Amino acid sequence: MSKKRVSAAVRTKLDRAARNAMQHAHAPYSNFHVGAAILLRSGEIFAGCNVENASYGLTNCAERTAIFSAVAKLGPRIEIEAVTVANDQGAPCSPCGACRQVIYEFGPDATVFFQSADGPRESHITELLPEGFRLQ
Ligand code: THU
Repeated sequence: MSKKRVSAAVRTKLDRAARNAMQHAHAPYSNFHVGAAILLRSGEIFAGCNVENASYGLTNCAERTAIFSAVAKLGPRIEIEAVTVANDQGAPCSPCGACRQVIYEFGPDATVFFQSADGPRESHITELLPEGFRLQ
């Protein structure tokens, strides 16, 4: 497990992309607006927001929106190097379990930047998701 180095300049770009996408969140039920941005090995950045639904369980988190947008544009061979999560309340917010598994699918060596209860944190995806599932 090697934590990828992400430069301060790229971190800033990821944060900005996540915060921009956050403005597009559809979150009338939780009122918790989330944005996420992913950095691909190619250097490209994709962003997403949470999209809620009146049938609550259909909600899509910001992280998965960003990842699915990248796959829709570039195909399934994307490699995620880093993920940034932002929210409009400065609240602790790490990716949910489902999103961790989806990050792992395309970024088994990804670094995840998020707000923890103790402030900004950077974790390897396998710290957040030990024993992630892979279909052999
Ligand atoms: N949410 C995200 O989009 N990403 C996270 O990392 C945590 C939670 C969304 C899902 C739901 O729309 C709202 O936040 C409240 O759970």
